[in-house]
Amino acid sequence: MGGYRVLDLGCGVGLIGIVCRQLGARVTFLDREGRALAAVRRNCRLNGLGQAQTISGDWNHGGQRLRRAAYDMVVGGDVVYDELEWKAICSALTRALRADGIALLADPGWVEKSKMQATFRQSGFAVSKEIVGIRWPPWQVKGQRRKGIDIYRLRRRKVK
Ligand SMILES: C[S@@+](CC[C@H](N)C(=O)[O-])C[C@H]1O[C@@H](n2cnc3c(N)ncnc32)[C@H](O)[C@@H]1O
Repeated sequence: MGGYRVLDLGCGVGLIGIVCRQLGARVTFLDREGRALAAVRRNCRLNGLGQAQTISGDWNHGGQRLRRAAYDMVVGGDVVYDELEWKAICSALTRALRADGIALLADPGWVEKSKMQATFRQSGFAVSKEIVGIRWPPWQVKGQRRKGIDIYRLRRRKVK
């Protein structure tokens, strides 16, 4: 991911963006919760990554504080759980992604898959999905089981 410009949308404490930074990406972390962003800054320092670039804001209204077409990739871990937010997330992706950029959105199984994919498609994205198997819960307990995490891959559809 060397040199990639990545936006971690709804970053929480920043786990996904931090991994992207460790892989060489330049990452911006966006969340509407100030305390989450404070944790991101602390976690970046604790992981030897120095300062974190953060945006305190809401992805609704297209994420007004996002620079247009500034990102090669948007990552979002567990941000699509509420279907009322799907269109706003699509608007933020449309604003933030470069024309040939890609968004990767992970969902542990909260959503009605076909309905969400239809919303993304109506918003101008080509969508594909893969399932990554993990142990659940992710910490060590008796009775851990396998679980699939859906990873949605979105690219802007080309206008003909
Ligand atoms: C379930 S957490 C996931 C956090 C992180 N991505 C992860 O994988 O651990 C959802 C995050 O999205 C943020 N969020 C929810 N709605 C938002 C909105 N409208 N604008 C910006 N951030 C939002 C929450 O503050 C929270 O940090």
